[in-house]
Amino acid sequence: MVDRIRTDVAHNARVWNHWLGGKDNYPVDRAVGDHVTALFPSIGEVARADRAFLRRAVTHLTAEAGIRQFLDIGTGLPTAENTHEVAQRIAPDARIVYVDNDPIVLAHARALLTSAPEGATSYLDADAHHPREIVRAVTGPLDLSRPVAVILLGILNFVLDTDQARSITRDLMAAMPSGSYLVITHPTLELGGEGNVDAMAFWNENATPPITARSGAEIRSFLEGLEILEPGVVSCAHWRIEADSAQPPMVAQYGAVARKP
Ligand SMILES: C[S@@+](CC[C@H](N)C(=O)[O-])C[C@H]1O[C@@H](n2cnc3c(N)ncnc32)[C@H](O)[C@@H]1O
Repeated sequence: MVDRIRTDVAHNARVWNHWLGGKDNYPVDRAVGDHVTALFPSIGEVARADRAFLRRAVTHLTAEAGIRQFLDIGTGLPTAENTHEVAQRIAPDARIVYVDNDPIVLAHARALLTSAPEGATSYLDADAHHPREIVRAVTGPLDLSRPVAVILLGILNFVLDTDQARSITRDLMAAMPSGSYLVITHPTLELGGEGNVDAMAFWNENATPPITARSGAEIRSFLEGLEILEPGVVSCAHWRIEADSAQPPMVAQYGAVARKP
């Protein structure tokens, strides 16, 4: 598996880790990540806002909606406040399956498998382009007769075809029972993200996997048939900010949580 780790080309999981201030990355990741930052200076803020959104969304789903099962696809490298840590702080019996297809995430997965004894975490090395295979593999670790929160943060942007991205969310949510949730973040050229065009073009020439931005309307189409929770599809930095927090700056990353009726 270590053979699969390429250190000559920047990988998204490792560059994302660099933007979050982590150390699990190589010189090529730092060089590409810093060049992207020069072209699109708010990218670090996007990464931090995305993680803060994950914490707020998982807290809401665990504490308010009673969710006890999470399927986190495109997990990323372990960092602070991973999904199981946030959920199990509230509900130690929560079960989490993490999915990613980057060999470096697999190599570090042990840090994601530190479940509270009452719950469980597991890791699946799989590609989000194949949602039915993911559903088959998680049937067992998760009880699909009970609600599941499917988490797709910063990953549908690596599915370049919008119809395919839509069918991935449709297939995943079709396999989940009523009362399940879809949690999503996605970069956009709206919300002040216009400056990201050059940064994404540079990324696509120098790093992997290739990325795309989408409009709010396209992202809403991924939630078709679901009930979108308030405040809707908004900058993820602004989704249900805690009452005692100052209004953070808007970032060019949409975030939303939606419930399967
Ligand atoms: C931008 S990071 C987001 C990490 C985490 N979800 C977060 O929001 O902090 C995207 C992650 O998706 C993973 N990824 C990209 N394409 C994927 C695919 N086709 N299947 C599974 N994982 C993928 C990358 O390896 C990376 O870890």
